[in-house]
Amino acid sequence: MPTEAGTTWTIVVAAGSGSRFGGDTPKQFLEIAGKRVVDWSVSAAASVSDGVVVVVPKGSSVTVPAAGLRCQVVCVNGGDSRSESVRKGLAQVPDTAQVVLVHDAARPVASAALMATVVAAVRNGADAAIPVVGVVDTIRDLEGNIIDRSQLQAVQTPQGFSARALRDAHASGAHATDDATLVSAVGGLIVVVPGEHWNIKVTEPDDLRVVAALLGERL
Ligand code: C5P
Repeated sequence: MPTEAGTTWTIVVAAGSGSRFGGDTPKQFLEIAGKRVVDWSVSAAASVSDGVVVVVPKGSSVTVPAAGLRCQVVCVNGGDSRSESVRKGLAQVPDTAQVVLVHDAARPVASAALMATVVAAVRNGADAAIPVVGVVDTIRDLEGNIIDRSQLQAVQTPQGFSARALRDAHASGAHATDDATLVSAVGGLIVVVPGEHWNIKVTEPDDLRVVAALLGERL
């Protein structure tokens, strides 16, 4: 569904090798509940976007079917790091885009409602909007010290950005595990929105069983 004033584009990063997951096929291209992991992520992104850039493994001929999606879908090869992959995706986002979301393909259960919340926070003036959830486990560092979990939050994707803030943040070629870290490093205003506990990142093989159950409920 296209948005008002200025377009919204989403970069879905799907160029990781999935080394922690193992197997011949990167986890984001495995099929769950009738669709590949990446396609679930693209579908949710498409619900709030005028266009989606899907960043796929370097040298890969994998394409994402645009069938059934009501927005433009572009595929591009990624880089050696997540940040590099985002930059390759960002290079495909047209200058007319006002809001740019970045979403991990490996989070196929993120809801369309969460995508919309993130877009709205950016349209309300944030440089970056990030979904967060509280940490429920007791946390120890590697030396065995207990870390006060009430001071911690786990950061998810989709993350939303004003296009200018995201482009400025990536201009230096810096690396981080997410994009809000880079926006923060150049002085951007970060707004947090409630994340979704079920919005897990498929990382280990067991995660697929959880995600399959959650996505199966949506069929
Ligand atoms: O490695 P990590 O779990 O942080 O990856 C998060 C997302 O970034 C995944 O969807 C993965 O496919 C993507 N990624 C990428 N290019 C890389 C590394 C990771 O698009 N070089």
